[in-house]
Amino acid sequence: MRRGVVVFLITTVVVLGFAVHHVWTLLMLLVVTGREDQISRAELPAPNSGAIIEQPQLIPKIIHQTYINDTVPDHWKGPQQSCLDLHPDYEYKLWTDKKSREFIAAEYPWFLETFDGYPYPIQRADSIRYFVLHHFGGIYIDLDDGCNRSLDPLLAYPAWVRRTNPTGISNDAMGSVPRHPFFLKAIDSLPEYNRRWILPYITVMGSTGPLYLSLIWIHYKNAKPQDMDRLRILFPDEYNNHPWSFFTHHLGNSWHNNDVKVIFWMAQHWVMITIIGFTMGFALLWCCYSTFVLQRQASANAGAKNRYAYSRIPFYRRISSKEFPLDDRHEV
Ligand SMILES: *[C@@H]1O[C@H](CO)[C@@H](O)[C@H](O)[C@H]1NC(C)=O
Repeated sequence: MRRGVVVFLITTVVVLGFAVHHVWTLLMLLVVTGREDQISRAELPAPNSGAIIEQPQLIPKIIHQTYINDTVPDHWKGPQQSCLDLHPDYEYKLWTDKKSREFIAAEYPWFLETFDGYPYPIQRADSIRYFVLHHFGGIYIDLDDGCNRSLDPLLAYPAWVRRTNPTGISNDAMGSVPRHPFFLKAIDSLPEYNRRWILPYITVMGSTGPLYLSLIWIHYKNAKPQDMDRLRILFPDEYNNHPWSFFTHHLGNSWHNNDVKVIFWMAQHWVMITIIGFTMGFALLWCCYSTFVLQRQASANAGAKNRYAYSRIPFYRRISSKEFPLDDRHEV
């Protein structure tokens, strides 16, 4: 093989290795199922079963929700009320924008600058839920999630989140004891992930939203937490759609805009996008290589004008070795 080609292949491998290392956590999200941490339906007592009172209560009986102010819009009053009705013995905390900011300023002042600096309000609504779970413990529920049965059985686990399809976890219903190491990691990593991407949806997802929490989850799992620190996972069947499920989901992601369609399309076609990405990267590398190395050689080589034009095509020179006799190998 020509030395130039070897250099090109090595460069490609190094660059690819770097890229894969960079997106490794994202790639792991595609294969990690969380099955080993599943809260299985078999271990959950049925609604109204006498077995529920025999379970330990680790998570404090607090329900947290968030909204701009105290005036919850009519379309969310139904779901909100369903949770209040099923949990008369729980404390209820509605985190308005004003209360959230006061809470961060008082309890986590190191985060206030990041919190105030978020360009999208949903980033504040996302992040505040990790802080209140870390501080008070309890169960956070999105306003568009209604309750289908008492959440008491879920108080028996130190911390849980819910699994989403096709990959990752969501931040719309989560429970935790105060100061659980998973939520500690979730609040501690927020400043580091506070980056802006081109699409607002990616910025929100990746800096504070479900994608952010899923990446934290992968890192947390990789660190092999002790059994008592495990983050348990509620799977879709236990989340909604069945009589024994805990929640009812009401569509209402008011902040989603057109980026969502792009992201969902990308999620569905990720194999193709990965291949195109790597092909484009490969082509780009080759262009750089041919521009800076081959062209210089080509112009230095009298009478080899054709070669200039073709040098951008990978391996062209090997194929056309008749045209360019092997005795010019030493020049590369
Ligand atoms: C609460 O926020 C909503 C949405 O921005 C607004 O329409 C409403 O007037 C606010 N209510 C109060 C009491 O400020």
